[in-house]
Amino acid sequence: MNKLNNISVVGAQWGDEGKGKITDLLSHQTQVVVRYQGGNNAGHTIEFEGKKFALHLMPSGIFSGTCDVVIAQGVVINPKILIKEINMLKENNISVNRLKISDRANIIFPYHEEMDGLIEDYKIDKVGTTKKGIGPCYSDKMNRTGIRFCEFCDEELLKSKLIANVAIKNEIFTNANGQYKKFDADALYEEYSIYAKELKQYMCDTSLFLDQAIQDNKRILFEGAQGVMLDIEHGTYPYVTSSSPSSSSIPINCGIAPMYINNNLGIVKAYTSRVGEGPFPTILNDEIGAKIREVGHEYGTTTGRERAVGWLDLVQLRYAIRVSGITSIALMLLDVLSGLKEIKVCTSYLLDGVEINTIPALEKDYSRCIPVYKTLEGFNEDITKITEYDNLPKAAKDYIKFIEEATKIDVAIVSVGPDRSATIVRREI
Ligand code: GDP
Ligand code: IMO
Ligand code: MG
Repeated sequence: MNKLNNISVVGAQWGDEGKGKITDLLSHQTQVVVRYQGGNNAGHTIEFEGKKFALHLMPSGIFSGTCDVVIAQGVVINPKILIKEINMLKENNISVNRLKISDRANIIFPYHEEMDGLIEDYKIDKVGTTKKGIGPCYSDKMNRTGIRFCEFCDEELLKSKLIANVAIKNEIFTNANGQYKKFDADALYEEYSIYAKELKQYMCDTSLFLDQAIQDNKRILFEGAQGVMLDIEHGTYPYVTSSSPSSSSIPINCGIAPMYINNNLGIVKAYTSRVGEGPFPTILNDEIGAKIREVGHEYGTTTGRERAVGWLDLVQLRYAIRVSGITSIALMLLDVLSGLKEIKVCTSYLLDGVEINTIPALEKDYSRCIPVYKTLEGFNEDITKITEYDNLPKAAKDYIKFIEEATKIDVAIVSVGPDRSATIVRREI
């Protein structure tokens, strides 16, 4: 039985580390690619042969042409967005015949998006969500009022559950202090039952499907969305998303046994970026930050928002490695650091003058942490065409070595450009 061979691709920072690129790359050595949490708050970019795609729900393994792609039950699905994505792929001659959608995944409706806006409006400390209805959909799931994909595809259940959900949501929208949309259950049913008819062909008991794939010794890649620092359990709460991107959540989100998840590739930007609100100790609000943002095109794939950028934070990275069980690293966007005279890395924090090496639970303490930096030499060369590790400038290799020594984790992949081919694979994953 295949116990060691699966891979998880997990964002080790605050999202947008390059998970889409690496999932696409590794999908060519994989038989199944699974999205296990999040929804269309994610934006995963894939580039190859002069083409560029941004996916929000479809697993990034879809371009391999041979992988089965699975949307597992831990994902929240906006059917409108998924159909749009399916059509976009078909127009580009990418087959979606191998898509399987969990019968147990929860569905996002427009009232979830409206509720996302309302909850943000009422918050004093706004999270800066993507307003895609992710939190409200997961809340309904936990409240046991959500609509699962199998119910969505059953006309009678869809109707009765929409009536019940719209009644309570409209009550809140009507009484709220602001102009919020109200919904008509019949109109929603008319529109969404058409989407259900279109998507029903992909419905699958994906827990059973994945178990069979494991028994058949197939290699499975689990594609995380967001990142460990946005994890509802382990992230910078409340400035987090509403699911668990960490690899430890894969078994529960997919309905498979935990022993199959032990090869966890942490996707790490060579610096740090964050979109939305929340503490970010190594943030650069200066011209170096502006330069990194411009060279790295640090604008959100989903919302177009400007991403905050900062130096690599080893306290944060070691924390992500620990709570998510990361066993190797893909170091991304290293090319973006070219041209900087020096590169700083945060090695610890000072909180009220005391050195600390982990992340405080209290958000107001974390916001007061002052990074302690080690300064390394920068490099000037254009590294985007380099395919052999040995050909990287010495300063770039020293930077990688420093990260490996500080984390005790191998940097197995180095990414030097957005294209699939701009990748140095040092060790097969
Ligand atoms: P994801 O959400 O983790 O899949 O990451 P995003 O796609 O949101 O953001 C990563 C961005 O960096 C995308 O625009 C990628 O095309 C780009 N990218 C990925 N790897 C590299 C790299 O090594 N160098 C550069 N310059 N860009 C990269
Ligand atoms: P990928 O998969 C970066 C952030 C939002 C906000 C917080 C909560 O592309 O890495 P939500 O809409 O999830 O309730 O917003 O999480 N966020 C992301 N940031 N990359 C993502 O996904 C994100 N998905 C959500 O900006 O701060
Ligand atoms: Mg993204």
